[in-house]
Amino acid sequence: MKTNIAVLVSGGGTNLQALIDAQHSGVIHSGCITLVVSNKEGAYALERARNAGIETAVLPRSKQESPAEYARKLVELLKSKHIDMVVLAGFMLILHETFIKAYEGRILNVHPSLIPAFCGQGFYGLRVHQAALERGVKVTGATVHIVNEIADGGPIMAQKAVEVLPDDTPETLQRRVMEQAEWILLPQETEKLASRVGRE
Ligand code: GAR
Repeated sequence: MKTNIAVLVSGGGTNLQALIDAQHSGVIHSGCITLVVSNKEGAYALERARNAGIETAVLPRSKQESPAEYARKLVELLKSKHIDMVVLAGFMLILHETFIKAYEGRILNVHPSLIPAFCGQGFYGLRVHQAALERGVKVTGATVHIVNEIADGGPIMAQKAVEVLPDDTPETLQRRVMEQAEWILLPQETEKLASRVGRE
């Protein structure tokens, strides 16, 4: 039996695409992506999932809803689909501990910096690369970690360094970090966790 994987997304979904491709090539073989959930209606990641024949769901967080209520709804959805583990691939909401507890040790996140640099509340997407360029670092990278109650604070599973070039913009740096680090590390670590969860 394969580990049922849900991927949570908010945007373009290039990391989701890397996961789908890794599933097709066999890099991911202990698990199967059976659900993609977006908190944003129009996210292109949803299109990628549909193109790959993967079930999708949209679960926006309304302004009146507390993070705990949202977490409960998300857990309910994932449990109803028999999801065993979760991958955050550009998911831009911080998840309440209700969710973390329900999938303790079974949630992976990819972050576009070498944690503990440029991480935590407010550091997401292009902002991370903007901050790295403003600080003038010469090396940045990506981190895949297990998610716990602290934003970007869970155990680190893998990291890869990427060079910053003199003419980089946040966009060019983001692209290089994705190509050289995120799209490689995330599928590899997803396979490792899926295999571990499958043996539990
Ligand atoms: C990726 O760079 C991912 O590491 C980052 O958002 C981008 C999503 O791109 N995630 C975070 O910043 C989370 N803190 P994608 O939708 O094309 O995968």
